[in-house]
Amino acid sequence: MPVNAPSVEKIPPGIVNLEDHARHAQTVLDANAWAYFSGGAGDEITLRANRSAWDTRQLYPRVLQPLAGGHTRIQLLGRTLAHPILLAPVAFQRMAHPDGELASAYAAAALGAGMVLSTNSSVAIEIIASTALSESARGPFWFQLYLQNDRAHTLALVQRAEQAGCEALVLTVDGPTEGARDRQRRAGFRLPPGVSAVHLADFQPAPALPLRPGQSALFDGLLAHAPTWDDVAWLQTQTRLPILLKGILHPADAAQAARLGVAGLVVSNHGGRTLDTAPATAQVLPRIVEAVAGSMPVLVDGGIRRGTDVLKAIALGASAVLVGRPYVYGLANAGAVGVAHVLRLLRDELEIAMALCGCATLEQASPGLLV
Ligand code: FNR
Ligand code: LAC
Repeated sequence: MPVNAPSVEKIPPGIVNLEDHARHAQTVLDANAWAYFSGGAGDEITLRANRSAWDTRQLYPRVLQPLAGGHTRIQLLGRTLAHPILLAPVAFQRMAHPDGELASAYAAAALGAGMVLSTNSSVAIEIIASTALSESARGPFWFQLYLQNDRAHTLALVQRAEQAGCEALVLTVDGPTEGARDRQRRAGFRLPPGVSAVHLADFQPAPALPLRPGQSALFDGLLAHAPTWDDVAWLQTQTRLPILLKGILHPADAAQAARLGVAGLVVSNHGGRTLDTAPATAQVLPRIVEAVAGSMPVLVDGGIRRGTDVLKAIALGASAVLVGRPYVYGLANAGAVGVAHVLRLLRDELEIAMALCGCATLEQASPGLLV
């Protein structure tokens, strides 16, 4: 066992799918953590739309297709992966379980899933890396970057990720400010003692300048140094790692990203946590795929809860998918074993969905699979 092995727990009885994990997690997490992990922005219209958009898309079953030797393997950024499922960056996982991100990394590595570690991780990247990189059949290990107001701070994070062995940066661009998180505010959300964004511990935020009359606390305060496309171009000159942009919904933004030559996109509305009434990711995915015209891989997240959702995403042109909340619920329910269970369920369901749609490989999944 590696030095940092997480605890080994049992899956509570009766959990056979990701929604079961969610229901059980609500009984395990306190109201503070539940509001943070499960909540979205505003009226949570986008949060619900993410789910219903996958639900309402229908798959055509196909019969009597040759299925022998089928598999879920894909190619992504020059690597062959066992399946197209990655763990999305989710902050503060030690609020779900004491092992936090370490347990998630352990499960991801064991199940061949990619892991994207959040800037706001509650476990340090160096501790995660030794686990995330240990398995030969592991998936990719990427670092999710939030540009900091101070470029020196951003560079320090990038260098730390490079040195730890991360293979790509996932630059999240959809959250210059948090959405209006009503559920979190109603719960009076606060980080519990002992849980913090450990990568940011050494960064002192610049003292806020006093606002002049008529100035906005948001635009003239928090957003006075908000990143722009120029910062993406700058970041490209500062790292040898491929950069994916996460949080793209508009085809014009996808086209701009393509012009800059980024390595990939993640179609995401941050799990309905930023702009409420933004469209569901399943709805806009085909437009983004069209906008980049095969020039880079397009990944998608938001509301993916079933193997059929994964197959639909691939059929609509995604190269791979990320899941957020479900694995955090697995983590709350049973630590690393719970995260592994979530990944296993999703992959098993994907294989079943492929077989029933007559797809032996994911290369055969095209828009024609959808009614
Ligand atoms: C997130 N997400 C997120 N994204 C990111 O780039 N950096 C982060 O630190 C976080 N933190 C975070 C915390 C929590 C509690 C949630 C639920 C989400 C967004 C995440 O990466 C992903 O886009 C969504 O979670 C995907 O939607 P589902 O699978 O949760 O529906
Ligand atoms: C969130 C931030 C950390 O969604 O991305 O809570």
